[in-house]
Amino acid sequence: MKSEWQKAVITSSEIIAENIRRIELSPKFAVPVKPGEHLKIMVPLKTKQEKRSYSIVDAHHDGSTLALSVLKTRNSRGGSEFMHTLRPGDEVTVSRPSQDFPLRVGAPEYVLVAGGIGITAIRGMASLLKKLGANYRIHFAARSLDAMAYKDELVAEHGENLHLHLDSEGTTIDVPALINSLNPHTELYMCGPIRLMDAIRRAWNQRGLDPTNLRFETFGNSGWYLSESFQVNVPELGLHATVNKDESMLEALQKAGAAMMFDCRKGECGLCQVRILDVDGKVDHRDVFFSDRQKESDAKACACVSRVVSSPTSSPTSTITVALS
Ligand code: FES
Repeated sequence: MKSEWQKAVITSSEIIAENIRRIELSPKFAVPVKPGEHLKIMVPLKTKQEKRSYSIVDAHHDGSTLALSVLKTRNSRGGSEFMHTLRPGDEVTVSRPSQDFPLRVGAPEYVLVAGGIGITAIRGMASLLKKLGANYRIHFAARSLDAMAYKDELVAEHGENLHLHLDSEGTTIDVPALINSLNPHTELYMCGPIRLMDAIRRAWNQRGLDPTNLRFETFGNSGWYLSESFQVNVPELGLHATVNKDESMLEALQKAGAAMMFDCRKGECGLCQVRILDVDGKVDHRDVFFSDRQKESDAKACACVSRVVSSPTSSPTSTITVALS
């Protein structure tokens, strides 16, 4: 294939769990897909097109049909809303499948942790581990049974290797107990909201396990606090912008004319980082690029995902003042 981008036709679109739509599509150029791969899709927004990434949840063996599953989020920046409008026969522009979350084969034990829609990145890995006869278990957490995509298929395929955790039944994952139960050479793969991933990372570090055996994929939109609108100032450019609830600081700065660097838009690469000069409110660091210590210092933030929320001592509209250089 000459170019990364190609056309794909939607072949199926159906709701499979609360606010979760499974979308199957046929790309023009089929290539076999490996577990952990994702697809980028061009999403038309009001004034431009933007890329969004979605995990490939399963695929035909030759890649002629790929399935994605998309959660319609309350604070959608346009991507999930667009994906939920797709119907059979619609055409979209997609990338080749690409890999940021590879499964290493050969570990003595695997633990797969999925929170909510994070199951889309984990399901293919679980199937492969079962086929390989590996020692694995899956911990799948969600708000309720209705919010669990692929629950029945997972139960049928993985039986007692699958552990379900429901907020609605008070059976959330006991993270310290889970991490303390692991063989020191276990590999843990996780995809879920930032609170769950942070708790696992902390417990992992506290136990002194090998950091290279902990692997994760992020959503790039879950935080510690609900999204609020806030102000961002850039004194070096004389720029003041409002960041609405449904947009990122990066988007608001771009709209206001700032030349921003970025790549992943998921808080992973750090390219969009800004230096924090002042903050009236609390920074909700939603990235996985900076360390806990860096986040605590509030010296820098990833503009693509991190936000500001009001605190008991801040003004009604919280404000962050940043430098781009
Ligand atoms: S663009 Fe990669 S962290 Fe923001």
